[in-house]
Amino acid sequence: MAEIHPQEPGAEPHIGPNTLRRLAAAWPRRATIRTDMAAFLDPAAPESGLTDYPVHLIPFAEHPRFLDASEEARGLVNTLAWQAYNARVVAAEEYVANPTFEKLTHGVFPGVERYEAKEAVQQSHIDEVWHTYMHMTAMQRTKEARALTSEPDYSHPVTNRWLFRLLDEYREEWERDMLFLVWTVVGELHINNFLELLARDDTIQPMHALVARLHARDEAAHGPIVAEVMKDVFVHLSKEQRELFIARLPDAIIALGAEDYEMWSQILRFAGVAGAEEMINDTRSLPGTELMLTDFSTVERLVRELGIEERVDYDFAGSRTGRA
Ligand SMILES: [Fe+2]
Ligand SMILES: [Fe+2]
Repeated sequence: MAEIHPQEPGAEPHIGPNTLRRLAAAWPRRATIRTDMAAFLDPAAPESGLTDYPVHLIPFAEHPRFLDASEEARGLVNTLAWQAYNARVVAAEEYVANPTFEKLTHGVFPGVERYEAKEAVQQSHIDEVWHTYMHMTAMQRTKEARALTSEPDYSHPVTNRWLFRLLDEYREEWERDMLFLVWTVVGELHINNFLELLARDDTIQPMHALVARLHARDEAAHGPIVAEVMKDVFVHLSKEQRELFIARLPDAIIALGAEDYEMWSQILRFAGVAGAEEMINDTRSLPGTELMLTDFSTVERLVRELGIEERVDYDFAGSRTGRA
């Protein structure tokens, strides 16, 4: 069987029965908390002339009202966009993935009895806490470098708002547990697409691309781990649990790929850019602007492997080509 090279995001991992054992064994030499902590903690000075966040990822960057804003205001929007990007990652890890990893190791879901599964989940949990630390450090460094005295509240990104809205609709604990599981599975399989948006961008501060790149390297292992664990869990779920998983999978996909217009609106207002509502409305009236990420092929593969492709109401191919 071919070896997995989690260092190469984008490489197709060969997932098989020994995946968990192999990934768990490689963790001590793979995990960025071990290999790259020193480089991260002793960063190079920021480079002048480079932005904090890729301009092309700002959905209204070409809108005339945005272009009319002062250079200073547009710069602040760019900086706040980078802060919000970090906050979106932290929110997903702290409030969704980590609680789910705890549930997985505490036996809340069936099928996680074998040691390899518990070990790989525990290692992933450690990675996530380190990722949160990296991203919160990145935010603090930016705050100091750009002399931000106050910032908007980024703590409720669209990914979590959507989940928490759904949680309000369900009263049973097992239902709420399943929602956390769905969000974590989709998130872990998909987060690298979000990280790769910045990981190789040379128009932004090198440290910002580095944080995304280091994080992506760990996540290249988490995706296969969660897929393997989910295959073990799924066969042990009750009919009701499976139905809920299948029914809410599309919500998680859309939420985790969504452009966060509420956050953009907040950022624009905070930066004092005139015409925020008009900019947001004009942008959203254009086709294909609701999702910032459209390729969910990693989730699609798991859906196929679970044998539920006929049941999941999401057009994976259409999403990739902008038809969904
Ligand atoms: Fe992570
Ligand atoms: Fe992860």
